Amino acid sequence: MTEVTLAVVGGGMRGLVYARRAHQTGAGRVVAVADPDPLRRAAFIEEFGVSPDRAHADWKDLAAQGRVADAAVIATQDRLHTDPAVALADLGYHILLEKPMATNEQEAATIADAARRNGIMLAVCHVLRYTPYTRAVRELLDEGRIGRLISVQHLEPVGWWHQAHSFVRGHWRRQDTSAPMLLAKACHDIDWLVQLFGRPPARVSSFGSLSHFRPEDRPAEAADRCLDCPIEPTCPYSAPRLYLGCLGDPSREFWPLSAVTPGRSEAEVLDALRTGPYGRCVYACDNDVVDHQEVLMEFDDGATCSFTMSAFTPMEHRRTRLFGTHGYIDGDGHTLRVVDFRTGAEESITTDGPQGPSASDGHGGGDEGLTDAFLTAVASGDAGLLQSDADESLMTHRVVWAAEQARLTGTVVPL
Ligand SMILES: NC(=O)c1ccc[n+]([C@@H]2O[C@H](COP(=O)([O-])OP(=O)(O)OC[C@H]3O[C@@H](n4cnc5c(N)ncnc54)[C@H](O)[C@@H]3O)[C@@H](O)[C@H]2O)c1
Repeated sequence: MTEVTLAVVGGGMRGLVYARRAHQTGAGRVVAVADPDPLRRAAFIEEFGVSPDRAHADWKDLAAQGRVADAAVIATQDRLHTDPAVALADLGYHILLEKPMATNEQEAATIADAARRNGIMLAVCHVLRYTPYTRAVRELLDEGRIGRLISVQHLEPVGWWHQAHSFVRGHWRRQDTSAPMLLAKACHDIDWLVQLFGRPPARVSSFGSLSHFRPEDRPAEAADRCLDCPIEPTCPYSAPRLYLGCLGDPSREFWPLSAVTPGRSEAEVLDALRTGPYGRCVYACDNDVVDHQEVLMEFDDGATCSFTMSAFTPMEHRRTRLFGTHGYIDGDGHTLRVVDFRTGAEESITTDGPQGPSASDGHGGGDEGLTDAFLTAVASGDAGLLQSDADESLMTHRVVWAAEQARLTGTVVPL
């Protein structure tokens, strides 16, 4: 198999995940990087042997070189996807683009146009489509094991500390600097559910709000920062408990700790919590994204789907129940219980890949599956190896925007 050369735009956490997998398997090699952070550029030079003259401080400097690799990974923050995606598509790069495609429909459509216009492969990083578990669910549906799919109940247990880390203190806490929660987090779930049904819903409704991580819920004794707070030891959202607890565990040091500090000592973590955003009281942040949300979808044949996203859970794999005319599937992200109504027989299917649900676990094997599929698709020129193209991702993002419109207007929104 030909080795695919890669340019990585945004050498942060996600950029590193894809770069490492490519090098680990030998299917890809990073030859260029763009990131304004000199430490991150230096890390790419050292870890992947990127030539210093191919380590740029901005994606525009990389683009100014013309096409220097077969494919580009775009893993910048949510509001910096469109410009590099369109520019690099116009240079003929195949693109692995982090989700969300863009933070509004018009920009996402511009990206899909650019992919079409240039005849490139563009895969949005909907990693859940690439797990062994998803493959097993799809096979059961395709084989007709539960007949026609009539309804689905799906839960995304975000996890109490993950909500506090990413959506109260972290990058994705505000709609104006990132995106609504449904787009930033649950675009994965909407995309996954729409692919199970094989078509977009005909109409959607949604409810949800920020109910807890607000000044109104702040205990009277609480301080603005955990390190000054007398009730920190009894608070479920204690930052010292979360981040000091990562030290010594390489996977938790990578995520969530590396978002907080590049340091790996107790003193460096405490310093980051004393001065940085991750040491703030969860009731004294500038967050506005929801902490729980429901989406209801109805399909053209009357099939229905209900989706719940909640912060108030352990962080676990998604759970899904699929109700068919001839059977039932109950899945916990790893094991599937299948009940056949024709015989009453029950089967338990355990899918490969014991990995957990988090970013530090590779999202249940999805990170690896996506990277491998993308590199093989580029090497072989076979776009069919990808589970979705730009137009399909645009379609599932449109469902997210419709659901968000439904939540904000209190209406049922047709698609
Ligand atoms: N697929 C998934 O499951 C998944 C999981 C987490 C995050 N994400 C998405 O991945 C993206 C990146 O998230 P992350 O956690 O890696 O963020 P990050 O902040 O760790 O990395 C982003 C990097 O982009 C760099 N950058 C900023 N401006 C740039 C520019 N002009 N040119 C080049 N690089 C620039 C930053 O310096 C930073 O290193 C986000 O859109 C996020 O929503 C996806």
